[in-house]
Amino acid sequence: MNSISLPSDSPLLKKSFLYGTATSSFQIEGDVDNRLESIWDTFCERPSAIADSSNGDVACDHINRWKEDFEILLDLNVDAYRFSISWPRVMTKEGELNPKGIAFYQTLINALNDKGIKPFVTLYHWDLPQHLEDKGGWLNRQTAFEFENYADKVSKALGEDVYSYATFNEPFCSAYLGYEIGVHAPGRTGRKYGRAAAHHILLAHGLGMKMLRRNVPRSKAGIVLNFTPCYPATDKEEDIHATRIADEYINQWYMQPVMEGQYPEVIKDLSEEDRPPVEAGDMDTICQPLDFLGVNFYTRLRYSAATEQDALYYEHPHQGPVTDIGWEIYPRALFDLLTTLNNRYTLPPLFITENGAAMADEMLNGEVNDVDRVAYYDAHLKMIHKAVSNGVEVSGYFAWSLLDNFEWAEGYEKRFGLVYVDFETQKRTPKLSAAAYKALLKSRK
Ligand code: BGC
Repeated sequence: MNSISLPSDSPLLKKSFLYGTATSSFQIEGDVDNRLESIWDTFCERPSAIADSSNGDVACDHINRWKEDFEILLDLNVDAYRFSISWPRVMTKEGELNPKGIAFYQTLINALNDKGIKPFVTLYHWDLPQHLEDKGGWLNRQTAFEFENYADKVSKALGEDVYSYATFNEPFCSAYLGYEIGVHAPGRTGRKYGRAAAHHILLAHGLGMKMLRRNVPRSKAGIVLNFTPCYPATDKEEDIHATRIADEYINQWYMQPVMEGQYPEVIKDLSEEDRPPVEAGDMDTICQPLDFLGVNFYTRLRYSAATEQDALYYEHPHQGPVTDIGWEIYPRALFDLLTTLNNRYTLPPLFITENGAAMADEMLNGEVNDVDRVAYYDAHLKMIHKAVSNGVEVSGYFAWSLLDNFEWAEGYEKRFGLVYVDFETQKRTPKLSAAAYKALLKSRK
């Protein structure tokens, strides 16, 4: 497929529907000597933690090459650019702002605003300073207050030049992947740890929201959550039940506290010891009114009743068709997700803050013809169109990602970019998907 097409009267083709691309600091920036160490620097040193034994030392060398990347954004003609601030770059160990670090983002934000591109800032996209991990990281309640201080200082420095602030990107990944099953930094394992980390991250979100309201009342403030919709493998009662439990454990565990100040029912199935360390007032702090909710969507999962003792459910491996990272391509789940969330919660406006696919890109005669990625975008945008036509309020869409980059535990082997990056030479080559995205944006009324 060469192009992305939507019905000509689609609300997604109105100028008011915002399109952007997204990146995150650790995945693209490099330039590690000018910042503190983060948990991902440390994790990358662990044998076998990263598929290709790589690290973020250079990544896309974006700190040095940002102007070139900015030109690509201009060429795509996006309305918005979503990126994250590196906590280890902008703060000192003493909890003060690092002037040089913050200046980088101020320059970028000014450049974006000068060209009418809305800056969407994420305060935390997984790169916790290592010195805070040394004190327990997200298992330590104090880290939530360290985040509050960081959010305070950064929002004062960047001010309302930032169109939209998200406190966190995907608390599920930081807490579950990082502290419960240990496949992401800092690589700890245990249900108790995963639940405690999630609670402190959610608490930090609430504290951060209060800072944003105080310091930048005219900027939009919210959070970005990832959702992997859960489907029963059969229509047997016990599989349907296990699927509901899985959904509560991996998706609603973050959504329900943020929206309603409560953990889902599955909390009662956990042993006393594994339950999150909730203190008086925490749930009220976590549940702050949001200007927007960022939804990240990639795939779905299927579930059956648990087969092992202590397990809450059995999660099936992905089935085909899958992307190069092995995740099932199932666009319909995005429609199901948006309509289900809309029925279940009183939602603020939604942004699809990430959606995209890792594909086995090949550079041939200087071109990357990623027709499979174009088809992925096309199918998913059509599902958003359908959800919006069914009354869900979606305000914009961000393609993940602008550039091929450091794909966490997969290293540089999995490519999600609209733009191909040759990691030897740092040469950027826009793929067919970049042209298709650009054409879609241009076709708007
Ligand atoms: C993360 C990105 C990541 C993408 C693809 C999301 O979970 O926010 O940082 O690259 O998924 O794995």
